[in-house]
Order: sequence, then structure tokens, then C-alpha cells
Amino acid sequence: MDNNQVVKKTIFSGIQPSGNLTIGNYLGALKNWVALQDDYNCLFCSVDMHSITVRQTPAELRRRSVEMLALYMAAGIDPEKNILFIQSHVPAHAELAWVLNCYTMFGELSRMTQFKEKSQKHSENINAGLFTYPVLMAADILLYQADLVPVGLDQKQHLEITRDIAMRFNGVYGDTFTIPEPYIPKIGMKIMSLTEPDKKMSKSDVSGGSVGILDRRDDIIRKIKRAVTDSGSEIVYADGKDGINNLLTIYCGFTGKTIEEAEKEFAGMGYGVFKEAVGEVVADHLGALQARFNEILADKEYLNSMLKTNAEKAAYLARKTLSKVYRKVGFYQPK
Ligand code: TRP
Repeated sequence: MDNNQVVKKTIFSGIQPSGNLTIGNYLGALKNWVALQDDYNCLFCSVDMHSITVRQTPAELRRRSVEMLALYMAAGIDPEKNILFIQSHVPAHAELAWVLNCYTMFGELSRMTQFKEKSQKHSENINAGLFTYPVLMAADILLYQADLVPVGLDQKQHLEITRDIAMRFNGVYGDTFTIPEPYIPKIGMKIMSLTEPDKKMSKSDVSGGSVGILDRRDDIIRKIKRAVTDSGSEIVYADGKDGINNLLTIYCGFTGKTIEEAEKEFAGMGYGVFKEAVGEVVADHLGALQARFNEILADKEYLNSMLKTNAEKAAYLARKTLSKVYRKVGFYQPK
């Protein structure tokens, strides 16, 4: 079949520009996007408007919003093939969110577990934005008629409500929005904490359990050297060896080797030697990625022009959906 005749599906993903991305985000998501960019129309959005539902340091938010996208580029995501942009650059997100607010029920938002958790954590600042956070997320997704949304477990409920809102709107006004599906990557790797290998590696972990993509070489090597392992001595992937399994997964994720190949390579060697090898491989790969990242960041002129062009591309697509919505709900639009 002629590939050009197949209509590519659209993937939308939003990333909060807060916290430091880890090798878990890299191997579990980012690295896979590189392979997907030919098969899908992808939009990657740094969702700065979501971030302000929790108090931020302005200078830090500003820096991270751009750095997040530069990191995507450094990982190999091509800003010519994909749309990489900052949410607040495309006003249609806020505009559609307002309309969708009027088609979202107080009761259903009250049931969002993330809202309940976050309002406990930030009990001094339970603002309306925190409450309607999922509606802005629905606007992000529905504006681009996304078919697929890659989401972790923590965002599944938000995707569900997005689908509910879209179906409700379509039910009243006829087909307007594509109903998005969750996207589960075929080859996604789950990377666990180095200190608690039965828990997922988290970007908010500062206890040495997680390796940041931008960590320094000696920190990377030191953290991996200190990774918790079992009391055995064999480097094999097996039940009850969560720590070694995790290190093998990380090693294979960065080298492209299979688990069997890695097991053979390290047969008869001790944990110490193995950890050193894993540390070196991770540090080398991240070092190269960091060099590209710094290069991209240093060229502000290119970065800014890329952001502008991509925001325009996104705005064009978003405007099409928004006009449709405005017409359907009965907003007068002069011809
Ligand atoms: N809420 C998501 C998170 O915290 C980020 C996000 C915002 C998002 N808009 C989105 C994710 C749209 C996917 C699609 O991880």
C-alpha cells in the first residue's frame, strides 16, 4: 500500500514545565517519540498554563518552558516534522477551555482524584484553576482533533473526562470533536527507582533514586553505583531481582542490546563491575544529549524563530476547531 495515502493519526502530548525529566521519562517516552514522528502527526506542548495552578517562580517557569522543548529536540524530535510549542503562545487553548467549562459539570470535576490530592497538598491555594485543570487539558487535546494521547496512569481519569466532555458536546451540536483514545506505546520501558526498585522512578525524587537527564556525569555514576540490588551475585533478569532487572533494562534501553545479550556480556562478573558499566553507558549517552541540548539553548535566535513558526502552525489548526465551536454554540462571527 502506498504509505502517502494513509492519513496519519494525530498525537497530542502535554508536558508540564516543572521538575527535571528523568531517564525514566527518556526511555519510557521521549526516546519512543523519535521513532513515531514519521508515522504520526505529533504535537508536543509545554503546558505553562497548567503549571500556574500551583504557585511558580516566574523566572524558573519561563526558563523551564523553553528548556523542556529544547530537551525534546536534543533527544531527536524534529521541530520541522512535529509541532513543538508553548501553550500560552496559542490563545485558543484558553478560549476553548472557557467554552468547555460550560459543558463540564461541577460534580464530575469534584470527583477528580488529582484535584483531591493537589488540594490536600496545596491547602493554602485551592484556586479555581486547579479545579478546572482537566477542562484546559481537554481543550489542549480537542483543539487539534487528536486521535491518540499518551498518558500515564495518573492522567487516565483526565483523558476519560476529556472524552466525556467531547461526547457531550458532540451530542448537543453534532460531530465537532474527535474522541481521543489513550495511547499505550508498544515498546515503552518502565524504569524503577534506584533506591526503591519496586517503585517507579519519579521526577520529584531527590533522594538519589532517580537520574535526571541533565544530571552531571559523576552524579549519574555515583547514583547507579549506589543502586539497591539483591544479595545474590548473578546478573540475570529474574523474579525477586528488581534492582538488577531495572539496571539491565536501563543498560539495554541505552545500548539497544537485548536482555539476553546483556546477561551474556556480564556472565560471571560481579555487581560492582556491572554497575560501573551501566553508569558509564548512561553517562556517555546523557553527556551527548546534554551537549546537543546546550547547543540548542545557546542559539536563542533559532529557538525563538522555531517557537514562533510552530506556535503559528498550532494556532492555525486550533483556530479551525475554535471557529467551528463558536459557530455551533451561537457566537456571532462577522463575515
Ligand atoms: N496534565 C498532564 C500532566 O500533568 C499534562 C497535560 C496537559 C497533558 N495537557 C495535556 C497531557 C494534554 C496530555 C494531553 O502530565
